[in-house]
Amino acid sequence: MDASTILITGAGRRLGLFLARHYLSAGWRVIVHYNTRNEMPELEQQRYIQASRYMAFQADLTSSRSVEDLVNKIHKLNWDIDAVIHNASYFTADDPSANLNERWQLQQDMTSVHILAVDALTHQLMSHYRDGASIIAVTDVYADKPNQRFATYCAAKAGLQNLCLSYAQRFAPRIRVNAIQPGPIQFLPEHSDEYQKKVLSQSLLKRELGYDSILQGVEYLLAAKAVTGSILKIDGGRSSANHYEQTFNDS
Ligand SMILES: NC(=O)c1ccc[n+]([C@@H]2O[C@H](COP(=O)([O-])OP(=O)(O)OC[C@H]3O[C@@H](n4cnc5c(N)ncnc54)[C@H](OP(=O)(O)O)[C@@H]3O)[C@@H](O)[C@H]2O)c1
Repeated sequence: MDASTILITGAGRRLGLFLARHYLSAGWRVIVHYNTRNEMPELEQQRYIQASRYMAFQADLTSSRSVEDLVNKIHKLNWDIDAVIHNASYFTADDPSANLNERWQLQQDMTSVHILAVDALTHQLMSHYRDGASIIAVTDVYADKPNQRFATYCAAKAGLQNLCLSYAQRFAPRIRVNAIQPGPIQFLPEHSDEYQKKVLSQSLLKRELGYDSILQGVEYLLAAKAVTGSILKIDGGRSSANHYEQTFNDS
């Protein structure tokens, strides 16, 4: 039988790239989706492509045409798929001064990346999923605890999470579907020290959790054959902390 195969979206950088590298080192075949750039060095990519263990495809998940193109490329590759990680994400604050068209566009883009693209990749690639395949969506503590500053992002992640629970019902017992709900795993470069301190002061463990914390959750969900329709919190206790201030607006 072919090597186990995983599809990871948003895997050109940060957590997605970390997961792609992990599964390549572990002997898996990896299908990477990326948006603006793939930071895996060309030489490293070529080594795995030559071993028929890696393909990377660009797609802007806000565009249905781009998503369709991605689906077609994965179809053509014709690799049976054992696991999917829906990691791609569009994180931005709402603009309170945005006009109707701008607000509409943001809602549309958020919904496209977090829900419509996930729906398309799930249904259009269904014939490639092996029996026992596992789908994992990466959501956010904000999926359950809204944050007025990021309302559109929160709503999209909440929608993604709920979609996963319906998928768990729909695809059982052949395919398991779960979500990971991260807290602060790795701040973005634009986050100020002040912002980072405030966020961490609201978690119980009071530290950035690192990409490895999410990998541990993914490994658990891939191995836990009795688990479907679950939401795994990997948030350093942020959602259990009693203080949850959401109004500060520096970033
Ligand atoms: N970092 C944290 O502390 C944290 C906290 C809570 C939840 N999470 C969740 O954990 C996951 C990984 O976190 P992260 O910080 O590594 O995520 P990230 O860098 O914010 O986003 C992941 C990927 O999504 C891609 N993406 C953005 N817009 C896209 C579009 N229109 N089409 C296709 N791809 C698009 C990005 O590619 P480009 O950069 O090329 O656009 C990026 O590589 C995400 O789902 C995130 O929401 C992270």
